[in-house]
Amino acid sequence: TTSLREAAAKKDTLIGSGAINPTYLDDPQFAAVLGEQFNSLSPENEMKWSFLNPTEGHYNWDAIDRLVQFAEDNDMAVKGHGIISGCCNPDYLLNITDPTAFRAAMTAHFEAVMHRYDGKIDRWDVVTEALATQGGGMQANDFYSVLGPGYIEDAFRIARAADPDAKLFINENLVETYPGKRQELYDLVSGLVRAGVPIDGVALQLHITQVAPAPGVITNIVTSYKALGLEVAIAEMDVHTLDAALQADIYGAVVDEALKAGITDISFWGFTDKHAYTWLPGAKPLMFDESYHAKGAFYATHTAL
Ligand code: XIL
Repeated sequence: TTSLREAAAKKDTLIGSGAINPTYLDDPQFAAVLGEQFNSLSPENEMKWSFLNPTEGHYNWDAIDRLVQFAEDNDMAVKGHGIISGCCNPDYLLNITDPTAFRAAMTAHFEAVMHRYDGKIDRWDVVTEALATQGGGMQANDFYSVLGPGYIEDAFRIARAADPDAKLFINENLVETYPGKRQELYDLVSGLVRAGVPIDGVALQLHITQVAPAPGVITNIVTSYKALGLEVAIAEMDVHTLDAALQADIYGAVVDEALKAGITDISFWGFTDKHAYTWLPGAKPLMFDESYHAKGAFYATHTAL
């Protein structure tokens, strides 16, 4: 078989691995499979605010620089992930309670990060998990606490100003599972579009536990956002089940439906079940086993491409 990236290239499709902690590149097998199979990567936690910018004005660039260099060496794209996250915000930010000062801190942070990687990172998850896990309102995260629901609009405007050429996504989980949450995200995003907020797309996490999204759901999501002029991407797919045949079926079915619906940007949340390298190792959610052998999920994905 050819690699995933060779198959994806024929369809002008990005096939990526997220959840890349740069220290994993020390493992030569990990680095080899990543470069062979994928044409895009994104960091796990290393771009989250407290990792990158733990104190005001102090940046730890090494980790992301290393990822960006690896991507350049292997002819891969890089997706920015975690510039705003629910977790992982530094004390210096959390100590700011004045909205104007908080927005100024966001602007300084976005400018520092987006300018450094200008031309190297051309698509971003700007806001991640804005909605409550099962829907029913917004997540009361650190940004919401100070700025209220308007933090989303602020983040997109600041991001567009910092890098006018980058593609900007809102990243959300479980909209494929909960119809109410699906509607809530649509209402939120269509409101942003109506208000002229600079957003380019919706990134579906697709952390799947046992049960595949119902057939047609991904297609409907793509159709509804296309009507707003927006793109839909898959940002963090994995399938948590120890039933390898079921897992393969779900990988294949989701990738097949996504491509038929017109999605051209698909990333998984890692690629090997190797214990130290996956966020929920017990469920063996990825396409390669602990020894980097391709699993059924890999072949099903490859076939769908
Ligand atoms: C996860 C990381 O994989 C873990 O290491 C960390 O402890 C928590 O965050 N959705 C996201 C990712 O957008 O940033 C999350 O990453 C997984 C769920």
